[in-house]
Amino acid sequence: MSNDEATAFLAARAPRPSSSDTIAPPIGTTATPAMTSEPLTRCFPRFASTVPYYVAGRPNYAPSLIQIVKEHLHLSAIDRLLDLGCGPGWLGIAFAPFVGTVVALDPEPAMLEATKLAAAEANVRIELIEGSSYDLGSHLGMFQVVTIGRAFHWMDRDDTLHRLDRLIEPNGAVILFNDTHPEVPENVWYKQYIELIERFGSSNARISPDRLRHEAVLLKSPFNQLERIGVVERRMIPIERLVDRALSMSTSSPEALGSLSEQLALELPKQISQFAISGMVVEVIESQALIARRGEAGAICKL
Ligand SMILES: C[S@@+](CC[C@H](N)C(=O)[O-])C[C@H]1O[C@@H](n2cnc3c(N)ncnc32)[C@H](O)[C@@H]1O
Repeated sequence: MSNDEATAFLAARAPRPSSSDTIAPPIGTTATPAMTSEPLTRCFPRFASTVPYYVAGRPNYAPSLIQIVKEHLHLSAIDRLLDLGCGPGWLGIAFAPFVGTVVALDPEPAMLEATKLAAAEANVRIELIEGSSYDLGSHLGMFQVVTIGRAFHWMDRDDTLHRLDRLIEPNGAVILFNDTHPEVPENVWYKQYIELIERFGSSNARISPDRLRHEAVLLKSPFNQLERIGVVERRMIPIERLVDRALSMSTSSPEALGSLSEQLALELPKQISQFAISGMVVEVIESQALIARRGEAGAICKL
């Protein structure tokens, strides 16, 4: 291994912020809110090698969730929406028919390229900007809504909310999108799936038990009025798409694993096929939106 390769390999396996993009914590568990561990430098996860796997394997958000959120927030054609950490642009594309303008921001050029293709396919107009949470500023204009899907954990969350406070209209919202797997019999395969990916991926990259949950960060921010909406669906997923999904995670991407990624791609179908019928697995998935709006500072509900 050359020095450059060794440096790249170590960088890929270096401790990262906790992440639902990497390995989600067990369902129903809560991280101990002892301390935060926000990224200290502006370093970004390496998503370049994940793009085709992300597009093929990641679960998209339930269309009915987008519809409910749009109605709940009374979004209309005069509104501007920012999709921060847009990845392949799924949120921006889903909301585009309901708002006037969508701006999609991401530091990874390959993700922006994927957004461009997907937006063209969906026949919607999206403004693409290469940049990150650290580049949020008044040059972007004001927004009614900022969506952040599976990406908030990569950011310095306090700093991001502080910057967004200056860019979001008084009655606007930040919405964190995510997906979870409820503990139902159909999801019996999921634990084994995650354990296998964890065995291959960097142990440093798992959810840090001392990282504050997003809710805790939001509650001490100006966006401290929180509501969560979830849509639970049963989906049939081909095993190959689950392989793609494993390779789409920054901690088990081809770039992070090198030749081990081929082994992961072989091992996964062997283990998961016992749960499949005709190569398909039933997945019960909850698409979630955590809507954060401005409330009274430090307000506590009296019951
Ligand atoms: C797991 S993907 C999520 C993509 C998409 N939002 C979704 O919901 O599927 C995370 C994305 O966050 C981006 N990202 C990482 N750090 C970021 C930061 N500090 N600011 C903005 N985006 C960031 C990555 O480049 C990547 O495209």
